Amino acid sequence: MCYIELNPLEPMKPTTSQTFRVRAFAGDYFVVCRRGVLREAARHIARLGRFSSVHILSSSRVWRGVGKKVLRGIPQRRNVHIHLFDDSEIAKTLTTVEAIARKLVRAGADRKSLLIAVGGGVVGDVVGFVAASYLRGVALVQVPTTVVAQVDSAIGGKTGVNLPEGKNLVGAFYPPSLVLVDPEVLATLPPREFRGGLAEVIKYGVIADPKLFAFLERNMLAILGRDNGALEHVVRRSIEIKGDLVSHDERESGLREMLNYGHTFAHALEAATHYRKFQHGEAVAWGMMCAALLGHETVNTPADDVARIIALVRQIGPLPRWPVVPAEKLFDLMRSDKKTKFGKVRFVLSPRLGSAKSYEGVTEKAAISVLRFGPQLILQSLKPLRNADD
Ligand SMILES: NC(=O)c1ccc[n+]([C@@H]2O[C@H](COP(=O)([O-])OP(=O)(O)OC[C@H]3O[C@@H](n4cnc5c(N)ncnc54)[C@H](O)[C@@H]3O)[C@@H](O)[C@H]2O)c1
Ligand SMILES: [Zn+2]
Repeated sequence: MCYIELNPLEPMKPTTSQTFRVRAFAGDYFVVCRRGVLREAARHIARLGRFSSVHILSSSRVWRGVGKKVLRGIPQRRNVHIHLFDDSEIAKTLTTVEAIARKLVRAGADRKSLLIAVGGGVVGDVVGFVAASYLRGVALVQVPTTVVAQVDSAIGGKTGVNLPEGKNLVGAFYPPSLVLVDPEVLATLPPREFRGGLAEVIKYGVIADPKLFAFLERNMLAILGRDNGALEHVVRRSIEIKGDLVSHDERESGLREMLNYGHTFAHALEAATHYRKFQHGEAVAWGMMCAALLGHETVNTPADDVARIIALVRQIGPLPRWPVVPAEKLFDLMRSDKKTKFGKVRFVLSPRLGSAKSYEGVTEKAAISVLRFGPQLILQSLKPLRNADD
């Protein structure tokens, strides 16, 4: 079986435990993760240089929740502009990019202007793409306000928008100059968004860090109660893991693929239900539990690891039911996923907690069997699974 290993990573040393350096082709950048960091935003931004004007881009929903906090750190002056736009997934389009660019022109933004994206993954992806293309590139600071954005989308420089034909089909790699992560802004995040985002945090534990996984097992209740200390710890560790992966593989040639743990299943679930039934993290939650079972079937993931993954994922809360769709149809959707290479479905599996590999040789039979019987097994499996040879 063909695989790419995650572990031979030479870890990038954080500058401090709350500041992480991420390597990118266009220059390294820092991610600062600390409670209250937004209050010092102006000081961090000043280190980037002088800007002719500053344009804060956000949505009205996000701004209602976090606007005051942001403005405490970036006082409103004559050359600070605020532009709000629709951050729903259906508005993640080239039309929105054009509307924002035109607003920027009217507000006098030039090559020396700075854009600050304040919001979840949609705001980050759209504003990132605007920053990549407006006047062929202007400086960008990301201020992520969802769990997904803090631990995933704001780090790594992927930006882009959707087309009617599919998600994220037009975009660019465009690293930010700085990312400011304040776990306090998660206080106003709607519960479903918050819980879904935790699936991505669990993913980091499964693919790269058994200690993070064990911390999540011990502290999930505090995290679900949005305890700032626990949240800060898991967000930081997730950033560090993602930062390491993208620093070694910005263009997604190998290592970065590990981030797709659970995602092959998740994309099929999302596509089969026309992106209406599952919030992305919820689909990833189901996907990780299926990937754990497939790991047990095909690469001898210990039964105890599988049971722990399922139990932890189930702690993040109730998930929408598995859809009534034939397993073969779900498998066909996996085959047509844009990440499939040369028609072969690749699965990222975890042979043991804290490590992951990408496998090309998983048989169709094994995958379909998990799709057919997995959901029922998962629902029944609050007790540890038994090894087939026990
Ligand atoms: N670029 C990448 O590497 C990458 C990685 C993962 C996901 N993404 C993209 O990210 C998007 C999903 O992002 P998301 O999960 O952050 O969701 P989102 O951006 O859709 O935000 C979810 C909802 O929460 C609201 N919201 C955000 N922050 C809030 C806050 N602090 N208080 C109150 N409300 C708040 C938003 O207005 C929105 O209604 C998708 O489009 C996906 O394609 C990109
Ligand atoms: Zn994801």
